[in-house]
Amino acid sequence: MLSTHILAVGIPCIIALVAALRLTRRRVYPLPLPPGPRPLPFLGNALQLDSERPWLTYTAWGKTYGKIIHSRVLGIDFITINSETIARELLDKRSAIYSDRPVIRTNELSGLYFNTLLLPYGEALRRQRKIFHQVFRAEVSILYHDICSRYANELVINLLNATSDLQEETQAYTASLIMAVTYGRDTRGNGDSLLARANELLDIGRHVISPEKAAIFTAFPFLEKLPVWCFSGAFALMERSRELAQQLLNEPFNEVKAQMANGTASHSVVADFLSQADGNADEETMKEIALMAYMGGIDTTTSALRTFLLAMLLYPDVQARARAEINQVVGHDKMPCLDDRPSLPYLSAILREVLRWYPPAPLGSEWYMRHQMMIFTTGAVIVGNQWAMSRDEDTYPDASRFDPSRHLTVDGQLTDPFANLFVFGHGRRVCPGRWFAENTLWTAAAAVLAVLHVDHAKDSNGDRIEVKPEYTTGRAM
Ligand code: HEM
Ligand SMILES: *[C@@H]1O[C@H](CO)[C@@H](O)[C@H](O)[C@H]1NC(C)=O
Ligand SMILES: *[C@@H]1O[C@H](CO)[C@@H](O)[C@H](O)[C@H]1NC(C)=O
Repeated sequence: MLSTHILAVGIPCIIALVAALRLTRRRVYPLPLPPGPRPLPFLGNALQLDSERPWLTYTAWGKTYGKIIHSRVLGIDFITINSETIARELLDKRSAIYSDRPVIRTNELSGLYFNTLLLPYGEALRRQRKIFHQVFRAEVSILYHDICSRYANELVINLLNATSDLQEETQAYTASLIMAVTYGRDTRGNGDSLLARANELLDIGRHVISPEKAAIFTAFPFLEKLPVWCFSGAFALMERSRELAQQLLNEPFNEVKAQMANGTASHSVVADFLSQADGNADEETMKEIALMAYMGGIDTTTSALRTFLLAMLLYPDVQARARAEINQVVGHDKMPCLDDRPSLPYLSAILREVLRWYPPAPLGSEWYMRHQMMIFTTGAVIVGNQWAMSRDEDTYPDASRFDPSRHLTVDGQLTDPFANLFVFGHGRRVCPGRWFAENTLWTAAAAVLAVLHVDHAKDSNGDRIEVKPEYTTGRAM
C-alpha cells in the first residue's frame, strides 16, 4: 500500500513528485465520493495507514465511515469495499466496468509484462484467461489427483521428521507440486536451480515492483526519464528481473518440448497442452500461464496451508472431529484421496473456514492490493478489503472464531462450493487457479489429519510452547 515507505525514496524524488503534482489535473467525479477520513494536503491519508497491515486501517475506518470508504494517497483516490455483498454487487454484476487495471510501467521495465494479475482488460488478458481455464478448470485439475497424493504423502513424512521446519516444508510442498503439475518436473531436493530462480523473481517482484513505486510511475510517467540515481538500485534489480523472467518462461517449457520429442515427458499441463495443440497453438501464452501458476499460486496456497495447521493446533475439537470423519469414511488402513472428497463435507468446511478466517490475500496483501486495483472509469482505485469481509459480523457471527460448521447446513452438507468463496475475488478477474488450489489444500489437509496429530511443541522442560499467529504483507504475487 502507498504508505510511509514513500518517504524513503529520497528527497530528490519527493521534490520531483511535488512538481509532478502541480501538473496533475483535479479529477471530476460524476457521483459524490463515499465518506472517509479527511486527507492532508499532498500526502492525503498516507500517514494514517498501517504500512505493514493496511487492511487493518481500512477495517478500522469502516467502523466510522461504513462499508464503502474513500481515502486519498498522493493524489490517487482509493475506494475500499469492506463488504462481501457490496463487492459481489459491484464486481460480479457490473464486472465489465471494474475489470480493468492501470497500465503499470514497472511491469514492462521488469520483464513481467505477462503478469496476469496486472494485465489491463483486453486481448492479452482474454487469451491468457481462455487457456488458464482450459488447463486449470475443475475437471482438468482433478486429473492430477495422483501427483497431489504422492506429494502430500511426502509432506507428511517430512513433517514427521523431528528436524523439519514447518515453514519450509509447507512451502516445499506447494512449490514442488505446482512445478510437477505444470511441467511434470521434479524439483525436490536442492539440485534444481529453477525453484531458486523462480523465488528470486518473486522476491524482486515484492520489492522493486512494489505498489508504491508502481503507483508513482503510473501517476507520474515522466519520472522514468528522471536521473537514474533516483531509483538506481531499483533499475539494476529490474534488469535482473527481465533476465530471470526470460529464462523462466523459456527453459522449463522448452525442456518439456524436448522430452515430448523423445517420448520421455510426464503427464503435465504443458505436455497436455502441446499434445492437444494443432499447428498454430499459442505457445507464448502457454509459457506465460505456466510461470504465472507458480507466481500466483505459491504464496497464497502456502499461506492457507500454514493457517490450516495453525487452526488444527488452536482448535483440537475441530481436528478430532475431522479425523473421526476421515476414519469413518475412509478407514484406518488407507490414505484419503480426492475421490473421497464428496463424502467428507466437514473437511471441506474446514478448508473454507481456513480461507475465510485468514484470507491469504487480505487486500489482498501487497501484490493483490495492486491486482485488485480497478481503476474506475473516472480514475479511482477500488480495493476489495477481504480482511473486513472476513470479519463482517452480519455475514459471519463471532467472526474471529474458527468454526467450520458455519459452512454446513443443519444436515451437514456444504452451503456453497469452495471456489465461490470471496477470497478468490469477484467477477471477470476471479482467480483461475481456485480449483487447483482447492485440490492442493485438500490433499495435504487430508493426509496430515489421517496420519498426524497437530499439537503444541514442548520446550526443554516439557512445557508447551504457545503460538502467536502473526501475518504480514508481501507474501503474495
Ligand atoms: C488459496 C489459494 C489462492 C487464493 C486465496 C487466490 C486468490 C486470488 C485472488 C483474490 C485473485 C484476484 C481476483 C480479483 O482480482 O478479483 C487471484 C487472481 C489470480 N490467481 Fe489466485 N489465488 C489462489 C491460488 C492460485 C493458484 C494455485 C493459481 C494458479 C494455478 C492462481 C492464479 C491466479 C491468477 C493467474 C490470477 C489473475 C487473474 C486475473 O487477473 O484475471 N491463484 N487469486
Ligand atoms: C530428517 O531431516 C534431516 C535434515 O533435513 C535429514 O538429513 C534426514 O535425512 C531426514 N530424515 C528422514 C527420515 O527423512
Ligand atoms: C530426452 O530429452 C530430454 C530433454 O532434452 C533429455 O534430458 C533426456 O536425456 C532425453 N532422454 C532420452 C532417453 O533420450
